Amino acid sequence: MASVRLTLALAGLMLLNLPAVAPAQEAGKPKNLVEYRQAVMSSLGGHAGAVSAIVKGQVDVDHLLPHARAIAATAATVDDIWWDNSTYEDYEKTDALPKIWQQPDDFQERIDKFQTAAKDFVDAVETGERGRIIQGFKTLGNSCGGCHDNYRYEE
Ligand code: HEC
Repeated sequence: MASVRLTLALAGLMLLNLPAVAPAQEAGKPKNLVEYRQAVMSSLGGHAGAVSAIVKGQVDVDHLLPHARAIAATAATVDDIWWDNSTYEDYEKTDALPKIWQQPDDFQERIDKFQTAAKDFVDAVETGERGRIIQGFKTLGNSCGGCHDNYRYEE
């Protein structure tokens, strides 16, 4: 079983290594844009979950800095993932609310806040001071939640 899975994973990687055979029109399809955005967001969720486990003492590892840096690096890409043709009208599996495209200035402020909080969190982790780390993680979490509360569909 393991070797079957490995073979499949390697086959997937080999396909990924062949951009020349990917039809050019794939790049702008609403489904692909939304799924990319959700992959970016999921990666943020993964790193934030890892930070949370470390801060709560559920695991004893010295990994705060790589997770904080990954969040900050990913935050810097979040400006670019709100394509005009990636709305609910274009692909109904998105949870991005139309307000994103209707109130671009307020939305951009949310992104700016998030990027600042992500950088500040890296700084806090670098000090190694627990109080600053906890505070920085709270501020970061609020910047995720502040955007989700306003711009993400919740059932
Ligand atoms: C500027 C706004 C904004 C910020 C900041 C933001 N998000 Fe999101 N997030 C969204 C929106 C909008 C969606 C819905 C995307 C979609 O479905 O197309 C989303 C979706 C998600 C999802 C679900 C992804 C999926 O597979 O459907 C997770 C997990 C997530 N965000 C985690 C985070 C975390 C963790 C942070 C902070 C470290 C964060 N987000 C910061 C707007 C934001």
